Formats: sequence, structure tokens, C-alpha cells
Amino acid sequence: MQYYSQQRLPTHVYTQPETYGLSRLPVDQASTLIPDAYTAADFFALEQEKIFATAWVAVGCLQQVQNPGDILVTEVAGRSILVMRDKTGKLGAFYNVCRHRGSKLLEKSCNIKSLHCPYHAWVYGLDGQCLGTSMFRNEKIVDTVPSNGGETDLSDTALFDKKNYGLLPLSVQTWGFLVFVNLSAQTTPLEEWLGDIPQKFQSHVLENWEIFGEKNYDVASNYKLIEENFMEYYHLPFVHPELTNVSRMEDHHRSQGAGMYTGMLTTPVSRDVDSVWLNLPAAQGLNKEHLEAAYHICIFPNVTITILPNHAFCMITDPIRANQTRERTFLLTPPGTLDNESHTSMFLELVKFWDMVNTQDLGIVERVQLGLSNTAFTGGRMCPKFEEPLHRYQNWVADRMCGIHRVPSGDNDARV
Ligand code: FES
Ligand SMILES: [Fe+2]
Repeated sequence: MQYYSQQRLPTHVYTQPETYGLSRLPVDQASTLIPDAYTAADFFALEQEKIFATAWVAVGCLQQVQNPGDILVTEVAGRSILVMRDKTGKLGAFYNVCRHRGSKLLEKSCNIKSLHCPYHAWVYGLDGQCLGTSMFRNEKIVDTVPSNGGETDLSDTALFDKKNYGLLPLSVQTWGFLVFVNLSAQTTPLEEWLGDIPQKFQSHVLENWEIFGEKNYDVASNYKLIEENFMEYYHLPFVHPELTNVSRMEDHHRSQGAGMYTGMLTTPVSRDVDSVWLNLPAAQGLNKEHLEAAYHICIFPNVTITILPNHAFCMITDPIRANQTRERTFLLTPPGTLDNESHTSMFLELVKFWDMVNTQDLGIVERVQLGLSNTAFTGGRMCPKFEEPLHRYQNWVADRMCGIHRVPSGDNDARV
């Protein structure tokens, strides 16, 4: 067995295919990614451009931008982004930067009628159009006597027309309860990215699910370690001993179709008949298979969703530095569930449950970050039965660092 070098690598090799040779081997022979992928500041900077500036990146939940005037302020690949619902109900995404001299427009999410730059008060509509440039004359007046060709230019600046100075747009799309943006001009369709996920969850009608609770966590680890921890159940009996009553190791199965995602399912959902997991009402219209399954999906690069018949837990990881991540979590319910007061108290139990599980996960993930920072570690081996999704995920990282776009097939087809 070969291992990666103990030396930290020079920046230029992060985009070379040879660098990832050992991770390209079949899962039963492969090494995990180069440790630099989790620890090096220059890898992180490149990864922001190569992955986050080219991928469909989940930025929040649909309900956060449900009403006209709702604006979600977030960051992707180091750029501040606005996702806004305009007066007509259309969703748009724009860079959070004024077209005058570049001031950042908004600091945090809000509901407003128009955007006013704090510097010189240029005004933008919710559709991104520039509506006003205070004390900045930019009108062209048509002469009544067309002695000079028909137009009198009263603008202070030649060839200035505020119509050309709307906010700079980027692609935004939604699926289910998630909102995705893509910074790249050559975007892959979101449909290709998600593969068979939308079809799989069609009957859940996830776009109508409502946020019950939200909690943010600051995590001293690389975002990929949080994603990777989510996609394997190998650690279940050791990190979450309480979970063995609810969900047994042998009830977990891998379930992945074509698409930029990893997936497993737990069926039956729970063995604990007293559990609120079973006693809360399920979403309407689910078939027997959906009623008995919990799905654990990680959509590359930064969002995980656990979908049960009666609730969903979603984590969005925002990378801050190589060894720091902001994790935003959402607990969602099918519509109407909370009309009944006893359901609300059951959901409060679920909030505690997910917080406990997540805190256990983040604790172990932070230990892995510390271990990976030890230069003695040069990459590890994966257990094929449990950790094939990590191999799938890590190969996307290698792909995109080298400029390769590849959507893998599902479990029954040839895999990398
Ligand atoms: S920078 Fe925004 S109005 Fe001047
Ligand atoms: Fe876990």
C-alpha cells in the first residue's frame, strides 16, 4: 500500500490529477484525500474557486425567501450574495455589492422594499434594477427642437445610464425546501446535479415543508469532515450509543442513483415504538416505502438532508477557513403538522434530539481535524461496506480541483 507524502504539498500540485492518484483507486484500495485538503490555507483558497465558485451551492431554505421583500444574505466562495424575492414573486440572486463604488449593501437577512446603499444612497429594486443615483444627473433629455441630433445630454458622466448599473446577477434555483446558487457563467443544469433526487422525493412535496427550528454551530473543522461524517454510519455505535435503540446498524443501506450526491437509507425508520419519530403524523401521500424509510442525502459540496416521513433535518456547511466552518441547521415539518399543540411539544423533543446527535458528531469531527493537522498522518483507508460514499465524495473534490466535471452513475453501475 502506498501513502501520500508526509510533506505538505506546494500549491501548484493541488490542481494536478497525479496528486490524487491514490484516492482514484477503487474504494477497497484507495487512500483518503491528501491531508492538505483539510488543513492548508492555500488548498482552501483554491477550493473556494474550483469547487464553490463552480458548483450548485445550497445557501438556505425556501421559506427564508418566501415573501416579497425577503432577502437572504449569505456568502459563497468568499463573495457576499443576496437571494431576494421581488414584488412579482420572482426569486433572484445578486452579488451584495453596489455598482457605484463597490460598497457592500446589506449586512444581514431582512425584509425590505428596496435596497439603499449606505455610502451615497444609490437605490436598487428587489429585482436588482438600479432605481436611483442620488444627486447624480444621468438623464438624457430629448430636445423639442432637434438642432443637435435630437438629444441633450445632461449627465455628469458620459454614456452613463442607470439601466446598465443594476446589481450583478448570478444563477439561482430551488429544489424541495432548498435554495441553490451557482456563480459560474457555464452552469450545469441543477437537474443534472441532483440526478434522481427530485423524482425520488416527488411525493413528499418538500417545497411546502416549513422550518420549525434553526440553530447555527461554529465548528473547528474543515467543512468536508462534517459532510463525510454524515455520509457513513460506521461511527454510529461508538459516537451515538443512544441511537442504537432507534436505528440499528443492519437497518442502514446505501442508496445512490446518478447525481452529485451520496445517499443511504434507514429502514425501518425506528425500532423504538415509543419514539416521537413514529408518533408524529407523516406527510400526506407517501407510499409504504417512504413511510418506512429515513433517507440521508449529502448533495455535493455542502448540504446534507435527512428526510423522514414526518420531519427533515438539514445542515448547510459554510466554509470559513481550512479549519473552520459555520454549520447552519434547520428542522422542517410537513405543512399542517404544527396545528396540533401536542405535535409542537414532540417537535421540541426532536430539536433536543438532533442537537444532541449533532453535538456528538461535531465533537468527533473536531478531533479528526486535530488529527489531520498532525503531519504524521498521510491519508487513511476506507471500509468499503460503510465508507464508499466518502470515496464518491472525495473523488468529486479531486475532479473539481483538476477542472473535471463528472456526474457519477448510481450504485448498480460502474463506479470510480
Ligand atoms: S458605493 Fe454605493 S452609492 Fe456609492
Ligand atoms: Fe453521526
